[in-house]
Amino acid sequence: MPLLVKDGEIVTADSRTRADIFCEGETITRIAPHIEPPPGTEVVDARGKYVFPGFIDPHVHITLPFMGTLAKDTYETASRAALIGGTTTLIEMCCPARADDALGAFEHWRAQAEGRSACDFTFHMGATRYDAATESQLREIVGRGISSFKIFLAYKGAFGIDDTELYRTLRLARELGVIVTAHCENETLVFERQRELLAAGKTDPGRHHESRPPEVEAEGVHHLMTFAEMTGAHTYIVHLSCREALEEALAARRRGVQVSIETLIQYLVLDKTWAERPDFEGAKYVMSPPLRDAANQPVLWNGLREGLIQTVATDHAPFDFDGQKRMGEGDFTKIPNGIPSLEERINLLHTFGVRAGRIDLHTLVNAASTQVARIFDLYPRKGAIQPGSDADLVIYDPDHRGVISARTHHMNVDYSAFEGWKTEGRPSAVTVRGKVTVRDGVFVGDPAGGRFLRRTPSRA
Ligand code: URP
Ligand code: ZN
Ligand code: ZN
Repeated sequence: MPLLVKDGEIVTADSRTRADIFCEGETITRIAPHIEPPPGTEVVDARGKYVFPGFIDPHVHITLPFMGTLAKDTYETASRAALIGGTTTLIEMCCPARADDALGAFEHWRAQAEGRSACDFTFHMGATRYDAATESQLREIVGRGISSFKIFLAYKGAFGIDDTELYRTLRLARELGVIVTAHCENETLVFERQRELLAAGKTDPGRHHESRPPEVEAEGVHHLMTFAEMTGAHTYIVHLSCREALEEALAARRRGVQVSIETLIQYLVLDKTWAERPDFEGAKYVMSPPLRDAANQPVLWNGLREGLIQTVATDHAPFDFDGQKRMGEGDFTKIPNGIPSLEERINLLHTFGVRAGRIDLHTLVNAASTQVARIFDLYPRKGAIQPGSDADLVIYDPDHRGVISARTHHMNVDYSAFEGWKTEGRPSAVTVRGKVTVRDGVFVGDPAGGRFLRRTPSRA
């Protein structure tokens, strides 16, 4: 059935127009001031609403064996939560353990999503080891539609790679035209700090950020930038949290290093005092890099507004407070890292970014959709509202008033880091490739309607 989105205000990364959008099959076919719906057309009334291109979360974890446990969401739960929050495409980190084969991991991660996702999806392929077999498997995976790798300079003994592996992964990426996303923290510094803190009996969640101060992240960024400069690889810094790391990345960019920067909604709206809350409550706010001093928040908002930071992600990594975060009682290094927020990213950006006057609507669309699509070879299929693009649309009611709670959210996790927070705005309808999947906060779509998105490296 064709779809007509009528009388909305279309807001893209660089334009704002009142017009109708006609979609046939899976794509947008016409945009005009007034379109008469042919018989049999489904009409979505968008009067008084914004119409955004579907949002893309460039950094989520759904299948994640990590720190002795497994992230809680499945594609069934995560994709519904994503859609209700306005995110129509997920880019998940495929993270094999060092001992695992890259190809086997890719097939496993894809199998978790295939036929179980309500929204579209693709992966950043984790390069958690580098040897001859891994190299040929990474080549094969790129041939199967993946155009980005993921590396960790942190998590000693788990996903972290050494400098030889880093150099070779970047060389391979350069050759294949693949962009390399990177978690930048110096793992040796983290490890030594953790040892010292624990030896001094400092075991509570509030010590987590003491073990990973801004210098640790800045060193990680500096390190990556040096290797990127030497290899010519295109890089993308995931979850950048602080001024020191931003300065390192911008200095590298000024000397010609190819680097894009992602920050997270958590760093924009939460600070380290949340992780210092008593009675182990702080564990809900343990993630890496850690929440920072509040002085970093205006730096990140300004960076976004000025286009120095390209994207806002969630690094969604859902671990229950009871049973999972509590594994770290008495030892903060055992608290599974992550602050779930897949469902809340857009509403928080709208409330604390746009409504608070820190960014405009175009910056929101750019950072949460269009730039992501451009960087990760999805544009203009995704991230755009134009004839030929996938009909992924978010009809957004800026006047809706909501309250966030774990009792009502759709993510499969027993707490919300934003419990009781008031939000302004929410998606009133969401479409994926021409089908309405959400109406007024309720999922009404095909639970298995999502598709794997094949991508071709564009930097070859
Ligand atoms: O704390 C975090 N960020 N958890 C997820 C894993 C990662 O580092 O991205
Ligand atoms: Zn990370
Ligand atoms: Zn992550």
